Amino acid sequence: PNTKHQRYREAHELTAKLYSYILMNTDAGVQALTYLEKRGISRKTMVEFRLGLAPKAGDTVVTFLRKRGFQDAELVACGLAVEMGTRTLDRFRGRLMIPILDKKGEVIAFGGRTMEQDVKPKYLNSPENDLFHKSRLLYNYHIARKTIRRDRTALLLEGYMDVISLSQAGIQQGVATLGTSLTEEQAKLLKSDCDKVIISYDGDEAGRKAAVRAIDILVEAGLEPLILRIPDGLDPDEYVQTHGGESFKRLLGRQTLSVVQFLLDDLRQRANLVSSVGRTEYVRQALQLLAERATPVEQEYELRNLSQEFNLSVETLKEELRTFAKQNI
Ligand code: UTP
Ligand code: MN
Ligand code: MN
Ligand code: MN
Ligand code: MN
Repeated sequence: PNTKHQRYREAHELTAKLYSYILMNTDAGVQALTYLEKRGISRKTMVEFRLGLAPKAGDTVVTFLRKRGFQDAELVACGLAVEMGTRTLDRFRGRLMIPILDKKGEVIAFGGRTMEQDVKPKYLNSPENDLFHKSRLLYNYHIARKTIRRDRTALLLEGYMDVISLSQAGIQQGVATLGTSLTEEQAKLLKSDCDKVIISYDGDEAGRKAAVRAIDILVEAGLEPLILRIPDGLDPDEYVQTHGGESFKRLLGRQTLSVVQFLLDDLRQRANLVSSVGRTEYVRQALQLLAERATPVEQEYELRNLSQEFNLSVETLKEELRTFAKQNI
C-alpha cells in the first residue's frame, strides 16, 4: 500500500466530513443551504452526494488537519491547501463543495462552486496530483456503475449539477467529465460496463463541439454513441428541475439521435440553405458524412430524404455517394 496516497485519502475524507458538517449544522451553512434549496436540491440528495461548504476563513481546513497530524507540505501536495508567502491557506474558501469520489467510493478531490454571480472561476477544482487524475475518472461513476451495467447504457453529462439533479429525479446512470473533453481512458472505463453511451451535453456551442469530439472517442473505444438534445437551450439539470424526471425519461425514449442524425442535423444548422451554392455544399457534405458513417439502411433512408428535399434523383445522389466511398478506401 502506498502510504502517501493513503494519507491524501484520509485528509480528503476528513475534509469532506468537515465541509458537510459546516453546511448542515452551522450558521455559516444557512446561506448555502438556501442556495441549494433554490436549485431544487433536497437534504437527502445533499447527504447522498456528500455536499458541503468550505468556510470563508483562510485556514480552517489547514488548522483542522494539522491537529490530526498532517504536515503543511502534504496538504499543499494533495491540493487541499496553497502556499501564500510564508502562510499555508485553504485552497477552497466560501464555496459549495462537491466531493469527487474514486471507483472505491473514496474522496480524492473536490469541485467547489461559487455561490456568487461574478466570481471566477465558477468551479474551482482540485489540481491534478498523483492520486487525482481527471482524465481517468468520471464523476459519480462509483454509484452510476450499477445502473450502467444493468442497462448496458451510460449517460454522459457535462457537469456536477447535471449528475446530481438527474440522480435526485431517479435517473441514476449519469456520469460527468470534469470540465474537460472525454478521454480515451474514460471511454475505456465505460466500455467495461456498457455498449451504448447517451451524450447529453449542454445545448450551447461549447457543448455541441464537445459532443462531436466525444462521439469519435466513443466510437474508437467500440461504444455506440447516441445523442440526446435537450430542448430550449437548457442543460440537463435545468431541464429536470423544470420538467421533472418522468419528462426527462420520455426525452430519453424519444429524442435520442443516432450519430448520423446528429451530425447531419449539425451540418444543416450551419448550412446556408437559402443560397443554391449553400444547398449544393450541404448536400455534398451530407453525402460525405453518409459515406463515412452511415449503415446501408441509414444511407438509403437519408438519401430518400435528401432526394425529396432538394429535388434530386436518388440515383444521382447514390452516384455521388459512391465517389466519397471510393476516396475513403
Ligand atoms: P457548466 O458551465 O455547464 O456548469 O460547466 P454547470 O455544470 O451547468 O454548473 P451550474 O449549473 O452553473 O452550477 C460544466 C462543467 O464544467 C466544469 C464543471 O465540472 C462543470 O460542472 N467547469 C465549469 C469547471 O471545472 N470550471 C468552471 O469554471 C466551469
Ligand atoms: Mn498515480
Ligand atoms: Mn456548459
Ligand atoms: Mn451546464
Ligand atoms: Mn447547469
